[in-house]
Amino acid sequence: MSDTTSGNAAATAHDDVVVELTDVHAGYLPGVNILNGANLVARQGELIGIIGPNGAGKSTLLKSIFGLVNVRSGEITLNGESIVNLKADKLVKRGVAFVPQTNNVFPSLSIEENLQMGLYQNPKAYTERLEFVTSIFAELGKRLKQRAGSLSGGERQMVAMSRALMMDPSVLLLDEPSAGLSPVRQDDAFIRVSDINKAGVTTIMVEQNARRCLQICDRGYVLDQGKDAYEGTGRDLLNDPKVIGLYLGTLGTDAG
Ligand SMILES: Nc1ncnc2c1ncn2[C@@H]1O[C@H](COP(=O)(O)OP(=O)(O)OP(=O)(O)O)[C@@H](O)[C@H]1O
Ligand SMILES: [Mg+2]
Repeated sequence: MSDTTSGNAAATAHDDVVVELTDVHAGYLPGVNILNGANLVARQGELIGIIGPNGAGKSTLLKSIFGLVNVRSGEITLNGESIVNLKADKLVKRGVAFVPQTNNVFPSLSIEENLQMGLYQNPKAYTERLEFVTSIFAELGKRLKQRAGSLSGGERQMVAMSRALMMDPSVLLLDEPSAGLSPVRQDDAFIRVSDINKAGVTTIMVEQNARRCLQICDRGYVLDQGKDAYEGTGRDLLNDPKVIGLYLGTLGTDAG
């Protein structure tokens, strides 16, 4: 009824927020918070990088989104609706996928069976989703019968990402996709993550390889002691003397 015209840039900018964490406090043990007021915004189609020292709470932050750690205060929203402490199966139904840092494949199952597990909520879509997944991870399509437990670390990581993609998520949470890989394979992993993101999946990636992460992400967050210490575009953070001094000095050079 109103004659409000389109083109309200401020409203649009606000509306495309997909995931938002506001002042999140969360922890595993009674009385001990690991996240101490963490904030994060991921907009539609963004690739967000999270870096920071060991133990800073990076994995915990992803787990707080995916309902795997007790959120004690603060707000977490998905497309504007609260998802605080919602369980993982509910989040999967809403289009959120999570690839954990470790133990992320079923080693006794074949690659194909691993992919099918990712689609348990919509098995009819198998052929269509497999086509998309193998457009990014072509090598897996040729080895569907191979047992996941017989794969290298990098190949397992691909299976884990592929399984997460089978459900056609709108948000992908990735915990250290390059961990344990040789430099060449790390580069490959980052290219795959970029490809997934370019296909339209809003992606939040935690990475130990801080430089490479900041090079490919749209925006990054430095997490320290459970709080976002710095936020900016990947480029800004890479060039920020404080971030370099505190977090990039030795990190990121390990890939050679
Ligand atoms: N299940 C758990 N129970 C109790 N404490 C935990 C649990 N998981 C993690 N923690 C603690 O939470 C803190 C943050 O851990 P987290 O795994 O989030 O850090 P991180 O930034 O991902 O570290 P890394 O770079 O080593 O992966 C650590 O002190 C850790 O010991
Ligand atoms: Mg971690």
